[in-house]
Amino acid sequence: MIGDPVLRLSEVGKGFHGTTVLDGVSLDVPQGQFVALVGPSGAGKSTLLRLVNGMHLPDSGTVRTLGENPAACSRSRLRALRARVGFVFQQFGLVGRLSALENVLMGSLATLRLPRYGVMSYPRALRIRAVEHLDRVGLADRRFQRCDTLSGGQQQRVAVARTLLQSPELILADEPVASLDPAASMVVLEILKRISAEDGISVVCSLHQVELALATADRVVALRGGRLVLDEPAAGLAAERLREVYETARAGSAQAGAGDAQRDGRVGARDG
Ligand SMILES: Nc1ncnc2c1ncn2[C@@H]1O[C@H](COP(=O)(O)OP(=O)(O)OP(=O)(O)O)[C@@H](O)[C@H]1O
Ligand SMILES: [Mg+2]
Repeated sequence: MIGDPVLRLSEVGKGFHGTTVLDGVSLDVPQGQFVALVGPSGAGKSTLLRLVNGMHLPDSGTVRTLGENPAACSRSRLRALRARVGFVFQQFGLVGRLSALENVLMGSLATLRLPRYGVMSYPRALRIRAVEHLDRVGLADRRFQRCDTLSGGQQQRVAVARTLLQSPELILADEPVASLDPAASMVVLEILKRISAEDGISVVCSLHQVELALATADRVVALRGGRLVLDEPAAGLAAERLREVYETARAGSAQAGAGDAQRDGRVGARDG
């Protein structure tokens, strides 16, 4: 429905073995928005993404993804929901000995059900769509190349094309550019951004590079210690403010830095 958020987290809490990992996180993501999720290691970014597609269930609060509550879904309903949510990982998740095209075609396996062997075992219409998606990520000419001979950036673009074949309504990307150099990272993020804008697909993408987040995202959300500490449009957001999210965390873990932060009033102010 128009106007309904694609994703809604309301006061979500999650812990593991008695340790709180996410604490009272609320977040609405409208259709077609590209959200960068930043924050220091351990802040809870991956946990948040997993809550969205039902890989984890919240201890408190509620998650609504594409109008469904994963915690209330039956197994088959959860499977159907996950088919509507694309997931892109840092490690690409491709089969190295298969071609780019065949890896993209594997994105359709959730709906085809049968195991497939070789490109020609897929329906022709699907093969055409797969090449179109490879074209969108700039790799149509590499479609017959084995994935383990592609560069890291190219492999991640194949992974994005594979996700697109799934016709996702929401894409979750967990540090998709963590193992790429800055130029290749920028290419991958710009492709995700373009897809988000052109197809109206919401993207929630965790990453650590503050400059890349500001350059590509519509909106930046920062987690620190499991709490949402910043949520602002990327336009006009100062890189300094994002770096602070990381620096305050470092200061917090290395007690010595607390003095500096206290001096300018960042630590100790309960209401931020
Ligand atoms: N399945 C699990 N069992 C126990 N602890 C977990 C589990 N998943 C995550 N955690 C813990 O939750 C905290 C947050 O982890 P998470 O992976 O969400 O952080 P992150 O922000 O993605 O960090 P990074 O930037 O390093 O990827 C960490 O302390 C982690 O050890
Ligand atoms: Mg993570």
